[in-house]
Amino acid sequence: MKILVIGSGGREHAIAWKLSQDNRVEKIYVAPGNGGTACEEKCENVNIKAGEITKLIEFVKTNKIDLTVVGPEDPLSQGIVDDFEKEGLLIFGPNKAAAQMEASKAFAKDVMKKAGIATADYEKFNNCHDALEYIRKKGAPIVVKADGLAAGKGVTVAFSIEEAEKAVKEIFIDKVFGEANSTIVIEDFMEGEEATYLAITDGENIIPLSVSQDHKRVYDNDEGPNTGGMGAYTPAPICNDEKLARVTNEIAKPMIDELKKRGIIYKGVIYAGLMINGESIKVVEFNARFGDPECQVVLSRIESGFLDALLGAAKGNLTGINIINKNMTATCVIMISGGYPKDYKSGYEITGINEADKIENIKVFHAGTRAENGKILTSGGRVLCVTAIDKDLSSSIEKAYNGVAKISFKNMAYRKDIGKKGLKNLGAL
Ligand code: GLY
Repeated sequence: MKILVIGSGGREHAIAWKLSQDNRVEKIYVAPGNGGTACEEKCENVNIKAGEITKLIEFVKTNKIDLTVVGPEDPLSQGIVDDFEKEGLLIFGPNKAAAQMEASKAFAKDVMKKAGIATADYEKFNNCHDALEYIRKKGAPIVVKADGLAAGKGVTVAFSIEEAEKAVKEIFIDKVFGEANSTIVIEDFMEGEEATYLAITDGENIIPLSVSQDHKRVYDNDEGPNTGGMGAYTPAPICNDEKLARVTNEIAKPMIDELKKRGIIYKGVIYAGLMINGESIKVVEFNARFGDPECQVVLSRIESGFLDALLGAAKGNLTGINIINKNMTATCVIMISGGYPKDYKSGYEITGINEADKIENIKVFHAGTRAENGKILTSGGRVLCVTAIDKDLSSSIEKAYNGVAKISFKNMAYRKDIGKKGLKNLGAL
């Protein structure tokens, strides 16, 4: 079987790596890929960007690809799945209408409200004046969300009215997320701890994967600006099996059922960002793709069934398909170019990746890297995702940091407290 994975981050490296372990897979192309996918067994990078849908279709036809897997949200919201399906090509991911669950915060909130899914109360606005008036009336803390895709930067959790006003003005007046982002959602602040629920669905059946926790802020103790994610671990003790079943029954299933009522069949990954506070579980956001770095830890735990689940979801039939997880814990530490998520320099040589990879049960997924003249160079903000699995959370954390210690590049930085939240919830700290 030949597979095309679309994207260039740590998530896509993890997807390609997991699929490469299946004996039925003979070749995986990654478009455009990164320094890690360039060197991964069975994998080859293809110089086509994730948004170049016509070229991707041409490539798939010419190379007789059996399955395409879409990593990032942008091509999904552009309608890549609709375009592939029109050509009779098998592709994993939600179509354009379903991908609105991520691409429009206002659409997602409306679906949640109609489906009776627990989430923060909200109002939507399409002008600055009314939004500011609402914020002054409600007070802080309060959450301001740009409606459209904003590369993970569209959400401001404001702890003062001034901070919320600034976020609103940036969207409406400075247009920092572009002209298209002319609607905002203002939500009540939710107390609790965030966790990520991922599941694979064919629009009817749901296969939940293991729940993880991301670390979004750049510095230890959840300080500093938000990033795409600085590390993750799974399973997350905050969401036990009973809560996981509740999320499937009270959140994921009502979501796909409500979409079905609107004539939309959701196939692909359901990402529900959760806020858990004691027994209360509310949705912060839905995404239409695997999380990054959540994907790296969740896939590291999978023993079998991943390829069948992707094929089943893409074909619209997951009946009889199961995913089996290893009885182990996975932790991923993201190594970044110092300065990220603001300005940073890249182009520096990275050493020690092979030494880290040689440690049993460590896998170094690449994100912002490129292969050049036999060397691996930094080429982005998030550079490497050092991922370890071990018998429990504390040993997987220790192992991941043993891997990090082998690696070096100029200006490198990383958080030193990945997984501590989980240890606290286990009562181990
Ligand atoms: N790590 C957060 C996300 O993928 O949206």
